[in-house]
Amino acid sequence: MNHQIIFDAELLRRYDKSGPRYTSYPTAVQFHTDFNETDYRAWAKRSNETAKPRPLSLYFHLPFCDTVCFYCACNKVVTKDRKRASPYLGRLHREIAMQGELFDRARIVEQLHWGGGTPTFISHEEIQELMNVTREHFRLRDDDLGEYGIEVDPREVRPETLALLRSVGFNRLSMGVQDFEPVVQKAVNRIQSEAETFAVLNEARALGFRSVSMDLIYGLPHQTVESFGRTLDKIIGAGPDRLSVFNYAHLPEMFKPQRRIRAEDLPSPQEKLNILQLTIESLTQAGYVYIGMDHFARPDDELAVAQRNGTLYRNFQGYSTHAECDLVAMGMTAIGMVGDCYSQNQKTMDDYFAALDTGHLPVMRGITLDEDDKLRRAIITQLICHFALDMTVVEHKHGIRFTDYFATELIDLKVMQQDGLLELDGVSIRVLPAGKLLIRNICMVFDRYLRAKQEKRYSKVI
Ligand SMILES: C[S@@+](CC[C@H](N)C(=O)[O-])C[C@H]1O[C@@H](n2cnc3c(N)ncnc32)[C@H](O)[C@@H]1O
Ligand code: SF4
Repeated sequence: MNHQIIFDAELLRRYDKSGPRYTSYPTAVQFHTDFNETDYRAWAKRSNETAKPRPLSLYFHLPFCDTVCFYCACNKVVTKDRKRASPYLGRLHREIAMQGELFDRARIVEQLHWGGGTPTFISHEEIQELMNVTREHFRLRDDDLGEYGIEVDPREVRPETLALLRSVGFNRLSMGVQDFEPVVQKAVNRIQSEAETFAVLNEARALGFRSVSMDLIYGLPHQTVESFGRTLDKIIGAGPDRLSVFNYAHLPEMFKPQRRIRAEDLPSPQEKLNILQLTIESLTQAGYVYIGMDHFARPDDELAVAQRNGTLYRNFQGYSTHAECDLVAMGMTAIGMVGDCYSQNQKTMDDYFAALDTGHLPVMRGITLDEDDKLRRAIITQLICHFALDMTVVEHKHGIRFTDYFATELIDLKVMQQDGLLELDGVSIRVLPAGKLLIRNICMVFDRYLRAKQEKRYSKVI
């Protein structure tokens, strides 16, 4: 595939509207509380009974953080009290045992991820025990060939932490960096030295972690093209295998810690665009491939290889090389995907504890996909991973005539074609280099729920 990407400021401005990141379709706003534990259990049972049960992907949410970063939009619990982890982990162990009972023991865990919050907030003993309990109830791989990753905060790495993580089975690691400039770090309450950051990278490499990724954010207070350029140069010098460069959206009404960021310190929309342009140019010149949706990888990293081979996949953990797993998600707020459903766990610690303490799985809400959802999900996943779609493949797999079924969507896509985002030739959609940064807008065309919402809003206006 063509890895070229073009930054077209005019196009980006014209298509500038917020939209989902499509880690799921339908997105979480469509989940509802009619979907409950009984539904989830039925889907889990059914997933064992298919002719060829899928392998498993396990997600564990570890919500604790020692200090709050003011920009943060993650589901977290900020506390200095390390003892608070213990009652939570007790419930998590219980959930692992209950979930483990639902899935055939023969099903191999191809993918495993600890996310947060800050997974390394917990003690070494707690890390070891959590993995032991998981191993007791699920069939983990012992050959280091699974995709087993963890999110690491370099400020929360003690001597021996990385060696322990490697020894319990992790082989991928991503770490939060965000920005190295002291004035930015102070404004977002995240003081993190270059030395401690690169020490984690170097040690992870020495320990044989297969892929090390770093998270950066653009749009933070006091950032300029020049200052972010300095951070990028340092990162490129260190050369992680992957990079996520997230866009900071200032939504203080939604995320309380963001109220401590002064709006007047934020870069202007034009400056943000310039920072994005610099980021793309610097990273591609340094040899990174744009995977899509904020993600970059070295050409030899398995994400880039999977994209070239057409086997890349996307789920709640971002891009992945393991397509078609059932995702069993554990811990508060965690979102799973089993069979044709999505389910989300209780969002508060109290509700999460209460469910498990009364012998229930902590399912709070979810959704069962209908045929139309599955069809649209397949299209969105294909486009977001590969920037191309063969309509005939979709027609064969889903028994539809593409031009009839998606007549309205094709009208919207034609406008995008005229704008130079993509090419349409009657049998395929091909996203052009200038459309890659707008892949989420292209996917939004296929989002039935978004369309219904827009139509409702429109009919209200006239
Ligand atoms: C769970 S954290 C990573 C692990 C660890 N807690 C840390 O911060 O190092 C996930 C990542 O989400 C990103 N993030 C969090 N809030 C964000 C926001 N409001 N906008 C953009 N990115 C954000 C950050 O890059 C952060 O590293
Ligand atoms: S960015 Fe990471 S460390 Fe900071 S508050 Fe969010 S989850 Fe916690």
